[in-house]
Amino acid sequence: MTSEQMKMLLADMSLQEKIGQLLQLTGNFYAQEGLATGPMSDMELTREQVDCAGSILSAIGAKQLKRIQSSYMERQPHHIPLLFMADVINGFRTVFPIPLAQGCSFDPALSGEMAQVAAKEAARTGLHVTFSPMVDLVRDARWGRVMESTGEDPYLNGLFCQAVICGYQGEHVGEKDHIAACVKHFAGYGAPMGGREYNQVELSERTLREDYLPAYQAGVEAGAEMFMTSFNTLGRVPSTANRELMQDILRKEWGFDGVLISDWAAIGELLAHGIAADKEEAAYLALRAGVDIDMMTNVYANHLERQIREGRVPEEWLDMAVLRILNLKNKLGLFENPYKDADEVYDEMPDIEKAHRSFARKAAPETFVLLKNDGLLPLPEAPTEQVRSIAFVGPYVEEKRICGSWSLFYKMEENVTIREALEEAEAAGKLTIPVSCGKGCQVLDYGQERDGFRDHTRNESTREELEAMEAEALALARKADVVVMPLGEHHEYTGEGACRTEIGIPEHQMELFRKIHAVNPNIVVVNFSGRPLDLREVSRKARAVLQVWFPGTEGGHAIVDTLFGETEPSGRLAMSFPYNVGQTPVYYSELSTGRPHVDGAADGRCVSRYIDAPNKPLYSFGYGLGYTEFTYSYVTLSGAVLARRRTQEESDSGEEQLTASVTLTNIGGRPGTEVVQLYIRDLAGSVARPRRELKGFQRIRLAPGESRKVSFAITEEMLCFYRADMTYGSEPGSFMVYIGEDSDTENGAEFCLQ
Ligand code: BGC
Repeated sequence: MTSEQMKMLLADMSLQEKIGQLLQLTGNFYAQEGLATGPMSDMELTREQVDCAGSILSAIGAKQLKRIQSSYMERQPHHIPLLFMADVINGFRTVFPIPLAQGCSFDPALSGEMAQVAAKEAARTGLHVTFSPMVDLVRDARWGRVMESTGEDPYLNGLFCQAVICGYQGEHVGEKDHIAACVKHFAGYGAPMGGREYNQVELSERTLREDYLPAYQAGVEAGAEMFMTSFNTLGRVPSTANRELMQDILRKEWGFDGVLISDWAAIGELLAHGIAADKEEAAYLALRAGVDIDMMTNVYANHLERQIREGRVPEEWLDMAVLRILNLKNKLGLFENPYKDADEVYDEMPDIEKAHRSFARKAAPETFVLLKNDGLLPLPEAPTEQVRSIAFVGPYVEEKRICGSWSLFYKMEENVTIREALEEAEAAGKLTIPVSCGKGCQVLDYGQERDGFRDHTRNESTREELEAMEAEALALARKADVVVMPLGEHHEYTGEGACRTEIGIPEHQMELFRKIHAVNPNIVVVNFSGRPLDLREVSRKARAVLQVWFPGTEGGHAIVDTLFGETEPSGRLAMSFPYNVGQTPVYYSELSTGRPHVDGAADGRCVSRYIDAPNKPLYSFGYGLGYTEFTYSYVTLSGAVLARRRTQEESDSGEEQLTASVTLTNIGGRPGTEVVQLYIRDLAGSVARPRRELKGFQRIRLAPGESRKVSFAITEEMLCFYRADMTYGSEPGSFMVYIGEDSDTENGAEFCLQ
């Protein structure tokens, strides 16, 4: 459809029909055709309104969506197709590691590939839009939704955001097997006070722009078709009514011309926020802010029409919103083919596509972070003198819920557990070392239960059963030379509405750990979690700790491959692991303070420190071990001075640059991958500058004994920031460049911008 035709269509639509385009409902409303079902009366909607809603969320299945689409289009006065949307976060039927784990791969292209697979699987079942990527910067491990983000760094988050959008959307969303991406949650949702869900956010404009906004802006630059508002207030204004954010920054400053959707019921929540006296005012405020789609409230549907008729809300606001929604439908090609890629064959497919499975298996170890290893890993596949048998003991040995709380569409039985992977390796003759398995306890404590978006879990075991489980585990641990303990938080203890003030491994699992440790201290902990946990005790007592997050469908295989050295863990932390919860929020790019303190230094009382804990997190951003060892040479610079551009002509004539290099050598006995990280510190600026900032990284694979020169270009662009007067640009002066294995590296050299 041409834009002229679209405008003509708009001109022909009734007011009610136009308002309908702004309404988004769940699939339940379309379960029984022609009937005013429960949800309709709950939301005070008429059959006619439901018949005119512009989009549906969370319904899937090609057969079902085709049925809904065709009967809907018959009733819709202009036969305008519906948009189908859902939360496809870390995969669809094939589930990949959670986004926070993906951040740890430091491999955005890998996530781009995951998004492409997810887009194909989702598109074939009839979906058009996913509510992903979530690019909220996260620094507080108490917040449940840190699992949905790629971490604490603006630069890294921006790269992941772009790669994932390209994966979902391809060159053009209308292409086969592609869907539209929705960047969320705009803006600052990742910084709720106290780490408590939906709580207010307090950020200075500078911090917002410097740290939080870049990843969202990267989403606009990558061509995301949609944005979602966040639940929080920012500067005491809820995002869903925040004109400055939505109109001034997102649309005018960044040029976003796609669809803006509210988060679930967020327009209605303007009343609870206390900024709208009634639903009419809420409708007015949200539409004025430029929110096009009202997800799951009747505020637009029931409270706009009169205001428009009486002239309080300009019809032009409505028309612009409708046009943006029609435009997305048009880009997806729905006017020509309203079913897009929906294909019933996919609904019926008995198995996950083989290629998707093997990709998931190969990708997961890139997201695993080896936090500690005193030489116990990798484990031998055949018995050795030191290791003649291994016991796998812990609740995650047999757990199928390993996909994270935002995986809604997979088949549980398709997930591979650790036990299944071990049995398979034994049957294939790959694993000849004797291995035994026992759960020891459940993931949840006795009688504990938890609701999720997808299902409900409860520890149904009796006390006697739990005692027997524990006794079995202890017996297995006693007999074995090494004990692998897969432990961790329940997946529904992470994600939306899952904030914690204690961020340890559940206490009943820690009790099991201590008992096992008393009989056999040769422990490898495999930790499942959706957030950085307080791992002090485990990391002190266990001989090795492998962080596997929620690894997805192929989790069991990937973990077994990694533990036995078939592949190596090559992730690096995208979010710091705090020493304890009292340190949160803790992140590497903090400012130095006027009285900086280095852990261990005897620098007196009145410095910036805790008296009962170090300043440094337990494991810093960028940290992670592998199965081999690398050394870095000193940093060398191609020059000591970078010339600053002074005029527009100079800016246009291409960038000056310095080159910073190191020589990386694999001094271990195995091939291995290192994530070489580049950080920059501005030594003096017109405002205080971060301790250091990630500006580049490269994943380098080297054979044992191999060396390689690794170089990074340093450009003026990398040195820019929001200066004292809030203009964005560079300032002359001295800088440190660091190249090393994590954010604590002191391997640096100094240069000047002048
Ligand atoms: C979440 C969003 C999600 C939406 C739709 C909300 O509760 O905050 O991230 O996309 O629900 O499921």
